Amino acid sequence: MADASVERFYDRLAADYHLVYHDWDASMSRQSASLHAVIGARLGTGSASVLDCSCGIGTQAVGLSRLGHRVTGTDLSRAAVARAVDEAAARAVRLPAAVADMRRLPFPDARFDAVLSADNSLPHLLTGTDVLAALTGMRRVLRGGGLLMISTRPYDEILRSRPRTTAPQLSETADGQAFTFQVWDWHDDGERYDLRLFRLLPRDEGWHVEVGRTTYWALTQRQLTDFVLEAGFEAPRWHTPDSSGFFQPLLTALAP
Ligand SMILES: C[S@@+](CC[C@H](N)C(=O)[O-])C[C@H]1O[C@@H](n2cnc3c(N)ncnc32)[C@H](O)[C@@H]1O
Repeated sequence: MADASVERFYDRLAADYHLVYHDWDASMSRQSASLHAVIGARLGTGSASVLDCSCGIGTQAVGLSRLGHRVTGTDLSRAAVARAVDEAAARAVRLPAAVADMRRLPFPDARFDAVLSADNSLPHLLTGTDVLAALTGMRRVLRGGGLLMISTRPYDEILRSRPRTTAPQLSETADGQAFTFQVWDWHDDGERYDLRLFRLLPRDEGWHVEVGRTTYWALTQRQLTDFVLEAGFEAPRWHTPDSSGFFQPLLTALAP
């Protein structure tokens, strides 16, 4: 089952997830500062109640909590959620968190001021039905006028060349340098791809290699905007990394 493999992929990755960044702490600070500015511009300054419905190990959720927002984190991966809670505690911030599928959010209607799904999490959903189920649920748990924020890889650009690999990411560990990189195998439909994530970890005099596999749907900005409108959101707007400071294109929209 597709979602079982997503869960397994992230459960196995949780302990090493920070290695996909050169400096996870610095990325966490940068990403949350940009999202904080977007929240402030759309909802006004002050503390917002935010649901990060694909929080992973807490890259955005912990950072936003540190900036004074009341963040709840949910994610499909139990191991990632457990690490997010630990990372928050290590930084003395509160992060209530739970395992939940973004297609079935376990919260009452109108519970949050903002809902976030960052760093290419939504494209793990591989059908229009699933994407719409997730977005409709996000709208349901937002208060009227609440803010949706979704970031994805720049798929409009990526679909022009359908790359097969990503550049290696180097990070320093206590045992030496580690490298991560991805290999992408495009499906015949030209829209979906299987991703293999290679982790080369320093071990004794050589390397220990871990490989995980998952699938993504390279949704264009037009496709995602159409789904957001179909789910009942208003005023969709794409923010470029230059304009938002966030490292990926960021879609915002408002609950009616
Ligand atoms: C690329 S990671 C990003 C995590 C986090 N936002 C970050 O930047 O560190 C994608 C995340 O989406 C989560 N995810 C994928 N499908 C999901 C679903 N249906 N419901 C909830 N979370 C999901 C994965 O478990 C994973 O933690």
